[in-house]
Amino acid sequence: MVLGPSPAEKALAETARGVAIRAAQEAGRLLRRQLWKAHRISYKDTTHLVTEADLVSERAIVEVIREYFPDHQVLAEEGSKGGTNPDFRWIIDPLDGTTNYAHGVPFFAVSIGLEAYGEIVLGVVYDPNQRELFIAEKSGGASLNGRAIHVSGISELSRSLLVTGFPYERQLLPLAMRQFEAMSYRCQAVRRTGSAALDLCYVAAGRFDGYWEVSVYPWDVAAGSLIVTEAGGAVSDLGGGPFRVDGGTVLASNGRLHQEMVELLGQEHR
Ligand code: IPD
Ligand code: CA
Ligand code: CA
Repeated sequence: MVLGPSPAEKALAETARGVAIRAAQEAGRLLRRQLWKAHRISYKDTTHLVTEADLVSERAIVEVIREYFPDHQVLAEEGSKGGTNPDFRWIIDPLDGTTNYAHGVPFFAVSIGLEAYGEIVLGVVYDPNQRELFIAEKSGGASLNGRAIHVSGISELSRSLLVTGFPYERQLLPLAMRQFEAMSYRCQAVRRTGSAALDLCYVAAGRFDGYWEVSVYPWDVAAGSLIVTEAGGAVSDLGGGPFRVDGGTVLASNGRLHQEMVELLGQEHR
């Protein structure tokens, strides 16, 4: 559903937008300030690391949200929890691209999505390095630093630039590699940036023509998926079925390439 048209829901939507922007920008500033300092790194498992900056960023975001919406639920990657109101859930990745960050690579983002009545209604992704703020509201379009963005018009896979991500779960790597290889033969090139949220925003902005990943979490894709659809693109699960924020796989494209991507990626799914 779209928030509104009741005055109360319109006001909520407006406040939520301001809160998400403020939280993302504050967190982005914190992340940038600490980027080239020595990081305290801990490991969730052998490949999945977390820095103290992930935690600092998450704390800052949740603090801003709680100030305005103390009863809203929170689902955040580093474990913060929120209130008990089942109608609203903030889905937060305080640092998407944490491996880049830990190595001093300035390609990462803050991702904040708001789900209302089971549907993502607001998505904000902030890249503090490029100072790029991507925003989408359900049925309100998508923008980058205040200007409307649209997916690309490319309709031939051979002319497309695609992007993917590799799973932390090593047992899924063979599938991801097969898909990477198969798509590399069919398009201009495939990139792997290390930030799912920015991959989605780049599809929305027409920089990439398609993105897929075999294992994602709600905080990776909540905001970015809305930004893609509001920019005129398509988002589904890897099999071409309806996208679910907690569904585990994602395929996003400019729409024109979607079916062909579903078919080619499906061939590797064995
Ligand atoms: C990861 C990044 C990466 C994607 C992984 C995500 P994190 O998030 O978005 O690009 O390939 O699936 O888990 O751990 O940097 O927040
Ligand atoms: Ca992430
Ligand atoms: Ca993260």
